[in-house]
Amino acid sequence: MTRQFAVVGNPIEHSRSPELHHAFAKATGIDLHYSKRLAPLDGFASNVQEFFSQGGIGLNVTVPFKEQAYQLCDVLTPRAQVARAVNTLWQQDGKLHGDNTDGQGLVDAINALGWPLQQAKILILGAGGATRGVILPLAQAGAGQIVIANRTLSRAQQLIADVQPFINTAHLSAIILDHLSGQFDLIINATSASLSGEALQLPPALQFQYAYEMAYGKPSSFLDQATERGVPTSDGFSMLVGQAIEAFAIWNGVKLALSDFLSLK
Ligand code: ATR
Repeated sequence: MTRQFAVVGNPIEHSRSPELHHAFAKATGIDLHYSKRLAPLDGFASNVQEFFSQGGIGLNVTVPFKEQAYQLCDVLTPRAQVARAVNTLWQQDGKLHGDNTDGQGLVDAINALGWPLQQAKILILGAGGATRGVILPLAQAGAGQIVIANRTLSRAQQLIADVQPFINTAHLSAIILDHLSGQFDLIINATSASLSGEALQLPPALQFQYAYEMAYGKPSSFLDQATERGVPTSDGFSMLVGQAIEAFAIWNGVKLALSDFLSLK
């Protein structure tokens, strides 16, 4: 019988998840259908309930429902607990399980690029949901030091206080965005600046070897500046593929190689 999957969001028309999961299905020979579900802003929980009561196996969650999905779950993985947001749902023994695959998606994307993470000194720009979603997997991938730079320093400090109990290997610290300097192996833009079309100015005193922009399909002043410096760059399409591959692995028990699917861009 065809296994049923979906992504729920509002809006949802732009989602590339069906295309990705159908490509994974073709590669593995798994018989599945993956659809898009538009939930009303006040109707997320009933949409989820309907999906599973109709025999759905796995549901991805996107904007603006990831925090509501987190609230709804009976069982959460540690990385979803740290993220306080869930993008992958399934049912097991009558309980709703939730995970967040964004961070592992980013780690797999960075590995596929061949950029080093072991003992890496990483600078993350932004202290919102996007940063919260990736910090534990980056630490677990062996990062030595993670510095969170934010316009509003108190938000970066609060995020570190929240995640510190889950992280015992990487050293975490917070700085204010305008005071950036020093040398980093990897810089990740997790601000929403590119999404809202705003420019982000990187100070000349800030040095880095590799630059990853979490957004994709948008102009990015962050990537433009990194390219001008001759630094290898990537936009967030590889992370999108990575989070989908990790969700597919949870639901179907097969972990595909990210590099096989980057050509879908
Ligand atoms: P998301 O869930 O996408 O992370 P968010 O929780 O609203 O969204 O967080 C957005 C992040 O981008 C915040 O860290 C925000 O900084 P503040 O906490 O100081 O608001 C950051 N951000 C947004 N626009 C920015 C800009 N133009 N320059 C620098 N930082 C920006």
